[in-house]
Amino acid sequence: MFERLEPVVPDPILGLMAQFRADPDPRKVDLGIGVYRDERGDTPVLASVRKAEAALLARQTTKAYIGPAGSAAFNRALEQLVLGAAHPALSAGRVRSVQTPGGCGALRLGAELIRTACPDAVVHVSTPTWANHAPLLSGSGLRLERYPYFDPASGGVQFAAMTAALERLPARTVVLLHASCHNPTGADLSQAQWLELLALVKRRQLLPFIDMAYQGLGEGLDADAFAPRLFCAELPEVLCAVSCSKNFGLYRERTGALHLVSESAAAADAASSQLVRIARTMWSMPPDHGAAVVQTILEDESLRRQWLDEVDGMRRRIQDLRHEVVRQLKTHCPERDFAFIGRQRGMFSFFGISAAQVRALRERHHVYMTDDSRMNIAGLRHENLEYFARAVAQVLAGQQGR
Ligand SMILES: Cc1ncc(COP(=O)(O)O)c(C=O)c1O
Repeated sequence: MFERLEPVVPDPILGLMAQFRADPDPRKVDLGIGVYRDERGDTPVLASVRKAEAALLARQTTKAYIGPAGSAAFNRALEQLVLGAAHPALSAGRVRSVQTPGGCGALRLGAELIRTACPDAVVHVSTPTWANHAPLLSGSGLRLERYPYFDPASGGVQFAAMTAALERLPARTVVLLHASCHNPTGADLSQAQWLELLALVKRRQLLPFIDMAYQGLGEGLDADAFAPRLFCAELPEVLCAVSCSKNFGLYRERTGALHLVSESAAAADAASSQLVRIARTMWSMPPDHGAAVVQTILEDESLRRQWLDEVDGMRRRIQDLRHEVVRQLKTHCPERDFAFIGRQRGMFSFFGISAAQVRALRERHHVYMTDDSRMNIAGLRHENLEYFARAVAQVLAGQQGR
């Protein structure tokens, strides 16, 4: 059966991880992997998560199945976190949610629903977008196209080119949008641009599929949810894939949800029954632990407060690193403008250096980022910012530098 299978080319990020682990140099800096890191370089279990886990351990009396849509209480709590408690789509009974194995599960579930409703639907994703979007979405059989997004010259968004491309799309085209902290570029739309985009989406009758994997890590929990809140209030149909991996630090627990907004409660019920059917064909039931932790935190006032502080802490550290790294780069590489890093949001920035320069940083200075020069800002530490900036200066100047 399997003897003719060709080996899959390994994911470059996994190779980078292995190379980093094997590098014995104490100065090594990992800017490759997309997880949050603290000042010690760790990805800790949040204190609020630890407490919620202890409470769960003490009170949980069964591991019996919950159901293919997951925990109704988790789904409600996450809807309120994403949309805000008094959101008009929630009061109108237009929202349905299914708990999923992480944001990836939600993206795939949404893609399968689109394919069920409209087998030849086309999904447009930003150029560039998170590397896993293409396999997750096209894996369900949807055709993928791209719209212009990142502007390397300014480090921001090519909004005019983006809207001009979207303006040409036929009705019922799906547009994948990053709610905040765009991965891999860190370049987000402003609120004024989201409003303009909303008008376009309405006019062209497009279906927004919003990916929200970093709520709270950009400008704050509410500010980062500006787009999903606006679109879900103003449009008849929206899909929103949510991940709790980053803001709750629950990566390996596979925690997330797909929120679906429909035109009416009856349409929402029908679509949600399809979501449940599809979930049964893929993972049957979502994993419980991470969702139970999130629900415990969001429903308990003191745990929630502690978690809010922890999310604030992560966000402030990232913003602080952004400003500090710009300052260091300005000192050591004055001929080049890196101010865009301070204007971007979330963990990632496209550094804008060549693949050869990325390799030189890695080989000569033990600084690891992916070949496209995406760097995880949270992988920096205050103590190695200067080392990093000096390494960049040497590579840009084409020196050997050791
Ligand atoms: C843009 C984006 N969407 C979705 C996800 C999905 O995350 P997970 O499946 O780990 O919850 C990620 C994770 O890195 C991401 O960066």
